[in-house]
Amino acid sequence: MKTLKHDVAAVARNFSIWGDFKSAEPYGSGHINDTYASVFDQGGTAVRYIHQRINHLIFKQPDRVMENIERVLAHLHGKLKTDGITDIHRRALTLIPARDGKSWFVDPEGNTWRTYIFIEKAATYDVIESPQMAYAAARSFGEFQGLLADLPGERLHETIPGFHDTPSRFNVLEKAIQADSANRAQHARAEIEFALARKSMTGRLIQAFTEGRIPERITHNDTKLNNVMLDNASGQGICVIDLDTVMPGLALYDFGDMARTATRSSVEDERDLTKVLFKDEMFEALVRGYLESAGRFLNRQEIDFLAFSGPLITFEIGIRFLTDYLAGDTYFKTHREGQNLDRCRVQFKMVREMESRRDAMEAMVRRYA
Ligand SMILES: Nc1ncnc2c1ncn2[C@@H]1O[C@H](COP(=O)(O)OP(=O)(O)OP(=O)(O)O)[C@@H](O)[C@H]1O
Ligand SMILES: [Mg+2]
Repeated sequence: MKTLKHDVAAVARNFSIWGDFKSAEPYGSGHINDTYASVFDQGGTAVRYIHQRINHLIFKQPDRVMENIERVLAHLHGKLKTDGITDIHRRALTLIPARDGKSWFVDPEGNTWRTYIFIEKAATYDVIESPQMAYAAARSFGEFQGLLADLPGERLHETIPGFHDTPSRFNVLEKAIQADSANRAQHARAEIEFALARKSMTGRLIQAFTEGRIPERITHNDTKLNNVMLDNASGQGICVIDLDTVMPGLALYDFGDMARTATRSSVEDERDLTKVLFKDEMFEALVRGYLESAGRFLNRQEIDFLAFSGPLITFEIGIRFLTDYLAGDTYFKTHREGQNLDRCRVQFKMVREMESRRDAMEAMVRRYA
């Protein structure tokens, strides 16, 4: 048996799981946490669990992350039950408590772990293979936001403060341009100019929020396709996963990030920009799926901003890549010279693509609203 980076058997022993531990292996293709699937023998039946080590470099206060997740899941389970759903434990993640009753366990090295019921007969996809998948994911994320709209109690913790504060991301870029600490601005003249010309768009959503035109909601904040489990039999989205970044935010951040990630024809760091194209059919599927669920609670202004949220969030990620390139690649991992600049170029190309399709995108929203 190959050795694992962590002693998963020892971790698993600290959670209230019946039966005999049989095996564990690294699982999934997540980039943030370490995820393992274990197998327990429960009276002759093999039952799987997911164990995750929370990345405490990104989530500096893992117990706050877990407090959010506990509240969110308790609420989801309650709502699904009231709605008469019978397969609740496939429709929302379920935490297995640790032996001390908490929902997480800290190992002797200081790593925070959690355990979930393994959702069987469903899968996540790293690449969107069809508009049907985009539709299913968007519908699930909309449903998720809807189910959390009446979460009682205090505001959730902001696990990553200022995550989508685009104007402050822009300020950080302006500082990086001025400092030019890695002496790279000379290689990014066109991108800097592109970014500076779009300063005015960065504040539009925040302004609408400040003026009370769009509300704060509970949002997922990492709405990639592979954070929704699709049912093997029906292809429908059944469960939203990866809840570390669930926190107060704007619904449009979630939709904008779907539009950013699901409509692109290329990989994230494609160097041949002629391959970086916007897929209209994916955007249409996202709008259709999202409005089918979120259309019930979004207000008029939020709907009017849906098409704009795509270029906005794409621009935001683009300036983050540009900032990191100028600062000497200190935040995003790179595997080759200039990779962050390439990533920035891909995002900016997508911004251009969306800007040139603005009317068509608006029309799609109107069709399904
Ligand atoms: N309860 C579960 N049942 C089955 N599979 C799961 C479950 N939870 C997670 N997975 C699988 O593990 C993968 C990684 O999980 P997750 O998305 O939570 O990790 P992550 O490291 O935070 O990912 P990311 O890079 O998206 O931030 C998922 O894409 C999914 O395939
Ligand atoms: Mg994930």
